[in-house]
Amino acid sequence: MKRLYLLLLSIAVLTIPSLAQQTVRKTLNFDQNWSFNLGDVSDGEKTDLNDSKWRKLNLPHDWSVEGEFSKDNPATPEGGALPGGIGWYRKTFTVAATSKNKQVYIAFDGVYQKSTVWINGHKLGFRPNGYISFRYNLTPYLNFGGQNTLAVKVDNSVQPNSRWYSGSGIYRNVWLITTNKLAVDNWGTYVTTPKVTEQKASVNLKIVVKNYVGKPQQLQLITSIFNQEGVIVATKKTNTVTIADSVINVNQDIEVSKPQLWSVDRPYLYRVVTKVLNAGVIADEYTTPLGIRYFEFDAYKGFFLNGKPLKILGVCDHHDLGSLGAALNYRALERQLQILKAMGCNGIRTSHNPPAPELLDLCDKMGFIVMDEAFDCWEWKKVTYDYHLFFKEWHKRDLEDQVLRDRNHPSIMIWSIGNEIPQQADSSALRIAPELTAIIHSLDKTRPITTANDRPDTSNKIVKSGAVDLIGYNYHEYNYAKFHDRYPGKKFIATETASGLETRGYYEMPSDSIRVWPERWDKPFIREGNNVSAYDNTRPPWGSTHEATWKVMKKYDFLSGMFIWTGFDYLGEPTPYSWPSRSSYFGIVDLAGFPKDVYYMYQSEWTTKPVLHIFPHWNWEPGKTVDVWAYYNNADEVELYLNGKSVGVKHKTGDDLHVMWRLKYEPGTLKAVSRKSGKVVLTSEIKTAGAPAKIELIADRKTIKADGSDLSFITAKILDKDGNVVPNADNAIQFKINGQAFIPATDNGNPVDHDSFKLSSRKAFHGLALAIVQSKLTPGVATLTASASGLPTASIKVTLVK
Ligand code: GAL
Repeated sequence: MKRLYLLLLSIAVLTIPSLAQQTVRKTLNFDQNWSFNLGDVSDGEKTDLNDSKWRKLNLPHDWSVEGEFSKDNPATPEGGALPGGIGWYRKTFTVAATSKNKQVYIAFDGVYQKSTVWINGHKLGFRPNGYISFRYNLTPYLNFGGQNTLAVKVDNSVQPNSRWYSGSGIYRNVWLITTNKLAVDNWGTYVTTPKVTEQKASVNLKIVVKNYVGKPQQLQLITSIFNQEGVIVATKKTNTVTIADSVINVNQDIEVSKPQLWSVDRPYLYRVVTKVLNAGVIADEYTTPLGIRYFEFDAYKGFFLNGKPLKILGVCDHHDLGSLGAALNYRALERQLQILKAMGCNGIRTSHNPPAPELLDLCDKMGFIVMDEAFDCWEWKKVTYDYHLFFKEWHKRDLEDQVLRDRNHPSIMIWSIGNEIPQQADSSALRIAPELTAIIHSLDKTRPITTANDRPDTSNKIVKSGAVDLIGYNYHEYNYAKFHDRYPGKKFIATETASGLETRGYYEMPSDSIRVWPERWDKPFIREGNNVSAYDNTRPPWGSTHEATWKVMKKYDFLSGMFIWTGFDYLGEPTPYSWPSRSSYFGIVDLAGFPKDVYYMYQSEWTTKPVLHIFPHWNWEPGKTVDVWAYYNNADEVELYLNGKSVGVKHKTGDDLHVMWRLKYEPGTLKAVSRKSGKVVLTSEIKTAGAPAKIELIADRKTIKADGSDLSFITAKILDKDGNVVPNADNAIQFKINGQAFIPATDNGNPVDHDSFKLSSRKAFHGLALAIVQSKLTPGVATLTASASGLPTASIKVTLVK
């Protein structure tokens, strides 16, 4: 009965005003068919400039990742060792004559950096911040019914300007938005849920409507809330009012009964659809995402989501997508999040800048708690040409735009106004921190504000200013226990933890000696090939191993959560090395998306699915002493067998997170069996591999969309004749593709590999390589082949569907 009522209500509301839907807002993806020139051009904005020889491409685009690695590039290895420079983008397009009575906008999700935009030779504006979204009003300068030329100059020539790889260009999506003269403003809604119980949720919606008609207009707003099944569950109408002003703020209180709550395990989403009626006709329709949830940080009990305690098990990540560079790709981002979710991760910190909007959409949809961060520096620099040059003039605008854009995402539960701000040490923080929090509070008071402090002591001026709600600690986990002695009554968040260092597949013994400060942690690790042992026993002076941090985190309830540095390896910041390394070692997952061993430590602790992971590989010099580790859960013990003979039963004691056997290596089979109350839970085997004999290709998805951007990530494994991965295989693999797809990048997770990611050939690294297959626009079948000298060619089919 209730369903029938809801259905009738939906039909009634949907059919109220009847003017054709296409007269309302149109948001058109504007990524196709741009012309690009690398290098500066004079008069690049002029309409009559001949750009016919420029390269044709589709956005999002990152020209840096197309370049060659060199230590001499101004970004330095810290910035990924790839070139920067100046680039120009142009696009010619027509606007229908019938749009003359419309408003037309161009919206950029992100351009790195210092962009200037012109339409038909008219300068629309300059935006220095490479991570911020912005839009311009094209209306006054358009040729309706004729040709228009958009020109964008991007200046990333002066580097270093980020402490990591930034990418260069229009690296996120671009949208052409057409609205009526009476329409919801840019980021013009704000949805909150002031009161949520099991019985009902009060939803408050604030809407800003803009009137460009030039004379007073009649306005009525009808808002409907749709549940995830597409059924309207609540509707609200305002009275008809006349708006004389150019802007009007409207407030609507709506009730949703028996709300389905958003959580990390069940991220239930509603949609709030607002219709703007102008004299009874729909003038605009605007959708706002809604997740109904409530949360709280308690000084002594930690974090609660929907009334239940929950530790935030998060990671920090930079924005690059490995071998794809900074160019946004929805599927690549989704894959990263899927890999993290499978580890048990439930939180993302957008270090250290506003993310792509798609990241927030995905976190809403997949159930991640987001700490949305604004700045890596304020007025004092960290690297010579970073945002400190623009902070004074732009921080208010940038921070306002970030909060306006992002505040409707249910996944966001923390704002961060800065990472390791050098001014923590200076009294200027007493002025700036309160100013930044006031900017956020003027737009959103529903989330706590924090800063990620590398000086979490009482002399910290940001903390002293009293402006932050959560005291954020970067590292210093040995001091967590004493947090309340230092900050009585305050709330805690571990904004950044660990910074463990590993190379996937590389091992040094003994595994149980942890390289700690004040030993020269960096010196003993300079190895040929710049490798770092993957036993979770190496850390920088400021950081800690994964296990050491997690042991503390799990001990105290008041430690509301953590964001590990980092989920994925990223381009740039190749600590502990510099050149020839060009990407980081901090990830739990390598740059290609292959998990390092420590991934399974987290999985064994953070999920309930049974885990038994043993390592290292089993190819050593006979007689060598080898440490075998096992991460496991859901079991009382693990027994290890070498060539069928038991070498002992182990179980974790105290706060152990792994067990270890020290063995004299002999070739053969290592087999682990985990048991609970005597019953086998899991078994896991590693065998000594013989010589490389074949390539195995495994696709993460064998069917993808023929939409020009969907991806299949294909892992190539070098196997011996019996199907074992050859652990040190570095065969050069040549990938080829036919059909309606192409290979945008290849990778292997090796931070020292200088082959361009754009090449279709890649050496395996510790037995693995990755080829990414991207769809074109026609459905069909594409076949990827992989060949390597002396091995039979392997192939795999990917189906492309509409
Ligand atoms: C932190 C910093 C991060 C990254 C990390 C490496 O201090 O906030 O951006 O540099 O160190 O360990």
